[in-house]
Amino acid sequence: MEPYLRENYGNPSSLYPLGQQARHAIEEARYSVAELLGCAISEVVFTSGGTEADNAAICGTLFARPDKRTVVTTAVEHSAVRETLHAWAKRGITVMEVPVNHLGHLDMGRFEDAVREPDVALATVMWANNETGVIFDIAAIALICQKYGVPLHVDAVQVAGKLPMALRDLPLSMASISGHKFHGPKGVGVLYVRRKTLWTPYLTGGPQERDRRGGTENVAGIGGVGCAARIAQERLKLPGSQAQIRTLRDLLEKTIIRTVTDAHVNGDPQNRLNNTSNIGFASLEAEAILLLLAQRDIFASAGAACSSGSLEPSPVLRSMGIPERIAHGSVRFSLSADNTADEMTAVADALVSVIGRLRETLPVR
Ligand SMILES: Cc1ncc(COP(=O)(O)O)c(C=O)c1O
Repeated sequence: MEPYLRENYGNPSSLYPLGQQARHAIEEARYSVAELLGCAISEVVFTSGGTEADNAAICGTLFARPDKRTVVTTAVEHSAVRETLHAWAKRGITVMEVPVNHLGHLDMGRFEDAVREPDVALATVMWANNETGVIFDIAAIALICQKYGVPLHVDAVQVAGKLPMALRDLPLSMASISGHKFHGPKGVGVLYVRRKTLWTPYLTGGPQERDRRGGTENVAGIGGVGCAARIAQERLKLPGSQAQIRTLRDLLEKTIIRTVTDAHVNGDPQNRLNNTSNIGFASLEAEAILLLLAQRDIFASAGAACSSGSLEPSPVLRSMGIPERIAHGSVRFSLSADNTADEMTAVADALVSVIGRLRETLPVR
């Protein structure tokens, strides 16, 4: 990224050599991203992140299909999709949220019932959940949408770099990814738009991105995403690279479940991303756990959000029917190929003392 901040700082739309060098960097990045996604380079549109890509897919489809007024989605989408659809619901769009079961899997019968309604403009479904890592059967979902002629947008933010994608083999119309989920920079993402998709640009302005996303490009960020995509693709092809992450994740979970009382893994333990672990520590608040872990240089996150002074459990865990006493104390650990077995033992050891201390001092829910 550095050369495009310091030396090759030209505007990629300009004809002078510095501009053309920047243009070259963007096109090189587009090639690497297309390789990661398994699509044509002309189908890659750079955005300011996963949130913009999700907004562009939803809004751009609703703009292009004013005759259809219903969107089908799931109960466990990221806020980038959920809140965008809430905003559209206030403007009169009907949003049908298909529920999941206690393992986080989509009710496929209800999904098909929703998609077969005549008024559906779009289905928008995540590929893997950002809190639990649970993977939806996106090939089966895409086939259902194809059967009823409904365009499908897939929020693939969590799967890029973690699962092979081969978008050209799936009958879906759009997909979103985000650079920082595969070790790229923050604030850069991609919307994949399949050729011939009925879609109107969401961000209008200049002719950048083949008239699909106006605005001078974030050259350094795009270059960084291209570089991250190339490395992610190389890692994905390495035999055993994902198995290694899964082994570490399973070691972490087994040690925690063995040593910490009343700890529960949330989501389907089998069918989920290898790097994600969501563990509920009963009768505690996730925030307190995270703060004490951070003091030990262990950085994890929670799905809970603080609203009006009280901690709301994550809508994802709530939709799965996880009991409140577990949902409130649920923490997500995200691993990568850079983690080690020693780190897993250190995290489990830290949790024994953190959970023990909190259970002694905090009132039980
Ligand atoms: C599933 C999912 N969708 C969308 C987003 C939003 O991406 P960004 O942070 O790049 O806007 C995220 C980010 O965590 C995510 O996990």
